[in-house]
Amino acid sequence: MREELYKIKENVIKMLSEAKSLQELEDIRLKILGKKGELTRILRGMGALSAEERPIIGQLANQIRSEIEGNLFAIERKLSAWLLEMKMKEEVIDVTLPGKRRYPGHKHPISLVADRVCEVFIGMGYSIAEGPDIEFDKYNFELLNIPKGHPARDAQDTFYINEDVVLRTHTSPVQARVMLSQKPPIRVICPGRVYRADAVDATHSPVFHQIEGLVVDKGVTMGDLIGALQTFASLTFGPKTRIRLRPHHFQFTEPSAEVDVSCWECDGEGCRLCKHEGFVEILGAGMVNPKVLEMCGIDSNVYSGFAFGMGIERVAICKYGIDDMRLLFENDIRFLEQF
Ligand code: PHE
Repeated sequence: MREELYKIKENVIKMLSEAKSLQELEDIRLKILGKKGELTRILRGMGALSAEERPIIGQLANQIRSEIEGNLFAIERKLSAWLLEMKMKEEVIDVTLPGKRRYPGHKHPISLVADRVCEVFIGMGYSIAEGPDIEFDKYNFELLNIPKGHPARDAQDTFYINEDVVLRTHTSPVQARVMLSQKPPIRVICPGRVYRADAVDATHSPVFHQIEGLVVDKGVTMGDLIGALQTFASLTFGPKTRIRLRPHHFQFTEPSAEVDVSCWECDGEGCRLCKHEGFVEILGAGMVNPKVLEMCGIDSNVYSGFAFGMGIERVAICKYGIDDMRLLFENDIRFLEQF
C-alpha cells in the first residue's frame, strides 16, 4: 500500500507537470481525489489493514493527499495567471497605431448655392414649389406657349420618353403647375433638376439644376422684376453688384430679357473672368406672357406677373470662380473640400 501511495504521488506530479488547462487540472483532481479517485479508494480500504499498520499508512495517505492538494492549488494559480497573461497579450490594444479618422461631410456646392438663392427669395416672401423631373409635354411646352413644331423646342434639345412625356428641359413647367393650382397672389421659387440632350463640356451637362421664380399679382411690373433681381444679385454676389437687362426672346414671357450681373472680379471694368465684358450672364427673365396666364386660368386683364429662371451651376461657377462645370459632377473630394 505504501508503494501504491508513492506511485500515486509520483504519477500525480508527472501529470501535473504536463497539464495545460484548468480542465486538465480538474480531471487530475477527480481522478485522484474524487469520490472514485485512486487515493480515495485507498483511504476507504484502510479498514482491511492491521491495527499497527493503519495509523502509519493513514498518516502517510493524509500527508500525500495534502501534498497533492497543495500542488494542485499552486499549479492552478500559476496556470490561471499564465492563461490570463496569454489572453491579455492576444487582446492587447496597440495605442500607437494610427486611428481611423472620420471626415465630417458638408453640402455640395450646388446645394450650397441652391440653398442660398432660396434663402434670399424666402426672405422676400417667396415660398418653395416643386414639380416632377419627368414631365408632360403639356407643362414643359404647351402651356408655356411653345406649341408642337415650334422652333423653340429644338433649342431645348429634349429627352423624350414618349410623344407626351419628357425629362423637363427647364423648371418653367412648375410655373404652369402653380398657376393652375393656386390663385394669385403667387410668389414662388422652384428649385430642381433639368435635362437637355447636350454633350458634356466645360459649360454643358445633360443634367443640371435651375431655380425658377414666379410672381403673379395685381399691378406687377417690370420694375418689380428688376427690384427682385437686383436684391438677389447684391445678396448673392456682393453689395456692389449691378444688374443689366438685355432684350431677349422667350415664348412664355413678353417682354423678355437676359440678365447679367457686373463682374465680381473687376466690378465691370473687364477682366479675364468676364471675358472683358464687365458683366456675366446669369439668368433669363421677363413678364409672364398674357397668353400663358390665360392658358393657366388667370385673367390677364386683372393680373400680371414676372418670371425668371437661372442655372444653379452657372451661379456656382460664377460665385466660386470655378472654371469647368464638370468639376461639380465628378465628386472629387479634393475639389469638394474647398467649399
Ligand atoms: N426657362 C428658361 C430657360 O430655361 C429661363 C426662363 C425662365 C426665362 C423664366 C424666362 C422666365 O432658358
